[in-house]
Parts: sequence; structure tokens; C-alpha cells
Amino acid sequence: MTRSLTLRKSEQAVEDSVRPALLLAWYDRHRRALPWRPLPGRPADPYAVWLSEIMLQQTGVKTVGPYFLKFMARWPDVTSLGRASLDDVLRMWAGLGYYSRARNLHACAAAVARDHGGVFPDSEAGLRALPGIGPYTAAAISAIAFGRRTMPVDGNIERVVSRLFAVEQPLPQAKPLIKQLAATLLGASRAGDEKSRAGDSAQALMDLGSSICTPKKPACALCPLNDDCVSRARGDQETFPRKAPKKAGALRRGAAFVVTRGEELLVRTRPEKGLLGGMTEVPTSDWVAGQDDKVALKQAPRPKGIARWHRKTGTVTHVFTHFPLELVVYTAKTAARTRAPVGMRWVPVATLADEALPNVMRKVIAHGLGL
Ligand code: ADE
Repeated sequence: MTRSLTLRKSEQAVEDSVRPALLLAWYDRHRRALPWRPLPGRPADPYAVWLSEIMLQQTGVKTVGPYFLKFMARWPDVTSLGRASLDDVLRMWAGLGYYSRARNLHACAAAVARDHGGVFPDSEAGLRALPGIGPYTAAAISAIAFGRRTMPVDGNIERVVSRLFAVEQPLPQAKPLIKQLAATLLGASRAGDEKSRAGDSAQALMDLGSSICTPKKPACALCPLNDDCVSRARGDQETFPRKAPKKAGALRRGAAFVVTRGEELLVRTRPEKGLLGGMTEVPTSDWVAGQDDKVALKQAPRPKGIARWHRKTGTVTHVFTHFPLELVVYTAKTAARTRAPVGMRWVPVATLADEALPNVMRKVIAHGLGL
């Protein structure tokens, strides 16, 4: 029998009210000093919270820090960011990847300046109506910037909560249950309590997940909730969160075309929506199961003056979440001043690091250029 199953209802209620307080007390002592967090007890700036949350959507805390500071120094409020040119914003974003975030950031700042008088809406519904703000980010901003009693659930919080309550249901099906359980860590609401410390509770769980309740070898002895953690009592913490086995998709195949003009490489930007949205790639054929090499070669770009394609020996493989991909790589050289085909552009190989290149493309280019 696990501890939680042997708890009587009244005992359970006590635990439900104690955990939130333990969590906040731990946060008050151990919170990470992060550039977007105001000093303890100081009000949060919704603009800074929003900016950091957008940057943190697909990027870690360490990488985001300097970018956040650069943006705040250049555009200290939402109105100035809304007035900036998209090109300047994209340049400042270079290196953070997932460029559709930067486009949405700019569109969102312009919308807040234009439609909301430069003031962020303070409800989840109002925030979700803005570009680039989904359910998680809306909950994070409402809790952290406005003290709304809502719990944003990211990967760290999923891990902490699934261990604390030993959630047996696998992800992603367990998401609604985990959200419900995570909300119990906000503590009871009190009558007349307009503002809560929901933002601190959420950030406490994020910090706990990143420093103590880590995926491997969690430091349970240091955890403020250890006394009460069901999986710890059983000793199987590391097995949470449970995950449904991934269905391996069928192998897709295609051809990638590495075309150079002197020291420049022919590239294009992927469509904003979908896999690797808005990222940079060399032209490729379609990626399909059973792709025929001859058919793939027919989809090669046709800048003027390509005499012949050279097929590199070997293939580049990459495993996406939903399918593995195998690409054959063709190379060709074009003459100086050859125009890029419509929708494509030349970039100096020396500045490729500034492009939003996904890993699969890094591999393709390295293979094609023999790097
Ligand atoms: N990840 C996303 N939001 C965060 C925050 N406010 N603090 C730390 N990590 C985060």
C-alpha cells in the first residue's frame, strides 16, 4: 500500500493545504535569480514576463538570459518593440532559433500597442487572443505577471507532479490529470484574495524540476515535498512521468541539394506552419516513404548554369519525433552572379551560423560541403 492510498480524507486535506506553503517557503529561500524575475516582493513587469516566456518556449534559461537583456535594453516596453522594424527584431533574435516566435513576438507587441493601449490583457482568455500566446504561455503570464490563480504546466512541472502523486497514466494522455493535480499546489484561495502567489508557486515548481527533481538522479533529500512524495516512498521516482511508447513512423526518403556559388550556398526558408516552421534549409525534394531517387532528382532547383549534379556517397539520416528521414545529397556549382531561383537566396557559408538551421540541415550541409 502506498502512503497516499492509506491516507484518510481528513489527512489528505491537511496535506493538500501544507504542500503549497512548503513549496513557497522553499522558493523564498532558493529561488533562482533570473533576469526576468523582479526582486522578491516587487511587482512583475508584464512586458518582461511575456518576453521571457516567449523566449523560453523552446529555449533553455541559460541561453535566453543574454537575449532577454539585449531586448530589454533596446526595447524597454511593448510600445517600442511594436514600433520596431521586423527586420531589426529578427536580427536581434538571430541564434535563438524557431523564428516564427520572433515574427509573432513583433505582431503581438504591435497588437498590444494598437488594440490595448500598450497594456497587456490580464486574463488568460485575453492573452490567448494575441499572436504567439498558447494555453501554456497564457497561464504562465496570468500567474506570474498578474497573480491569477492558474498553474502553467511545462515539462519540469509535469515531472515533479507525476512523481509527487505517482501518476500512472502515461503522457500525453495524463496531461489533464497532471494539470488538475498541479493546481492543488497553488493552495486554497481565500475570500477577498484578488492576487495570489500563483506565479511564485509555478516558478517554484519550475525551479524544483530543474535543480532537484531532475530527470536522472533526483536530489530527493533536498526536496521540500519529499516527505509526501508517493513515488519517492516507493523508490521509483525516476520512472515518472510515464510515457506512452512512441509509434515509430515509416521511413521517409528524399534528396537534398547543396548548390554553391563560390563561397555562398543556396537556401530557402521553410513555411511558417508545420515541421521546422520558419527555419532555413537547402532545397530538397519531397520527403516521402519509398521516394525514388530519380523522381527526387527531378525536383532539384534549376538555377541557370548547373552542368551536372554530383551525388555524394552515403546518406544523411535524422530521426524526427514522428518519423525517421534518409536524404541522399546532391551537390552542384554555379557561376558567379547566377541568380537564385524564386523563393531562394544565397547566403555566405561563413555566416551560416546566423541562420536558423535545424540539425538535419547542419548534417546535410556538412555532408555536401565535405566539412
Ligand atoms: N521556463 C519557462 N518559464 C520560466 C520561468 N518563469 N522561470 C524559469 N524557467 C521557466
